[in-house]
Amino acid sequence: MDRIAITGGAQLNGIIPVSGAKNSAIKLMAASLLTSEPLRLTNMPRLADTRFLGKLLTRLGAHVDEREGLDGSETVLHAPEITSGFAPYELVRQMRASFNVLGPLIARTGQAKVSLPGGCTIGARPVDLHLQALEALGAKIDLHEGYVYAQAPRGLKGAEITFPFVSVGATEHAMLAAVLADGVTRIHNAACEPELLDLQICLNAMGAKVEGAGTSTITITGVAKLHGATHSVIPDRIEMGTYAVAAAMAGGEVQLTRARPELIDSLLVKLEEAGAGVIRTEDGVIIKRNGHRLEAVDLETQPYPGFATDLQAQFMALMTTAKGESRIRETIFENRFMHAPELMRLGADISVSGGEARVRGVEQLEGAEVMATDLRASVSLVIAGLVARGETTVSRIYHLDRGFERLEEKLGACGAQVRRIKGEPESDIDHD
Ligand code: EPZ
Repeated sequence: MDRIAITGGAQLNGIIPVSGAKNSAIKLMAASLLTSEPLRLTNMPRLADTRFLGKLLTRLGAHVDEREGLDGSETVLHAPEITSGFAPYELVRQMRASFNVLGPLIARTGQAKVSLPGGCTIGARPVDLHLQALEALGAKIDLHEGYVYAQAPRGLKGAEITFPFVSVGATEHAMLAAVLADGVTRIHNAACEPELLDLQICLNAMGAKVEGAGTSTITITGVAKLHGATHSVIPDRIEMGTYAVAAAMAGGEVQLTRARPELIDSLLVKLEEAGAGVIRTEDGVIIKRNGHRLEAVDLETQPYPGFATDLQAQFMALMTTAKGESRIRETIFENRFMHAPELMRLGADISVSGGEARVRGVEQLEGAEVMATDLRASVSLVIAGLVARGETTVSRIYHLDRGFERLEEKLGACGAQVRRIKGEPESDIDHD
């Protein structure tokens, strides 16, 4: 397996272009199953997760064509026919978001057999809300031997869906299924994450009638058929936030471009509070810190527009060398502090109790061998490695490759000493 080695101490200075959002791209790719015409997605990130989902879609009957377009990478997905409604365990287990093909398959063909995804390192992550939403839309759902057997031979019907708490995946899944349902669906207590609005824009370009994404009520008036479309994937707010934190950690001045800073306001406010310089620009943000030490600040993860759980690990890395004690509360996932013991191997002073971590800033981290446990945890270790004395080696970086496009190249272009050490090829790897 590949590893990443970082020699700490270099400041970051330069420009980092932000890629298209992984967590939007994979739901948009699933939307291609809803039409027999081609869906062209531009500003596509090239990641292990998108390649992986491409493989599953191919098995279901789609043609997946990756190209270099004028506006960066693009993928054309075309499913003239669904040749199989079966998503096997080995594929869904390896990437949970594969489960989101269930709704489009039922909506288009009236049936599907899709494996339950199981848990992952950051939490149990059940899919009960996804299934409740599909049942509300009239799908008959049976669970046997780890599989969801779903049927809606006469099509799905519009419904009132009220989620008991906010779920990004369940909201997206309900939207993906309801666009072809007969009648009006209203999703109450919907997730407001920007990726939902991106999905709405794409579905509407395909002929759907969706309103309200980005607010807590989404209204979908079902249509009989969708058609092909071209859609540009929203910039990745988590990648942007990650490099913003990296710049604040290493010091120097980094300009993030092709980005939308308003999507990470909750992070930028915390960076400013900690003492980093933040200048919002037309297509991104400049982050700078010149020598002075940052101050510890507290945070609590929340659904959008609150502080994103996907940036919590990176911010914890930043706090390991800040002045004072930072309290970090994780409220979305029950086990999302796996990076804490790894950061402690680098000399961080952290104690975790339940959903709260207390990080007491130290003057200096020291390089060590550490292990990535999930996607965002992995990148927090790279961020810590940027300032650790000597060399930090991060193993199991297949997690990192799931969600960060050309990470070494992007950081390297700003002066970071980051290199990949090639290892044995990986097999049978789980993708959370
Ligand atoms: C999405 O996961 C993202 N993944 C996650 O990013 C992100 O951390 C999360 O949203 C929160 O923002 C993708 O978009 C592929 P949820 P999702 O449903 O949709 C519980 C990354 O690193 N829940 O909003 O799975 C669940 O266990 C990943 O890129 C149920 O109980 O998150 C969690 O505690 C990691 N039942 C909470 O809700 C359900 O049916 C929120 O999860 C569904 C969720």
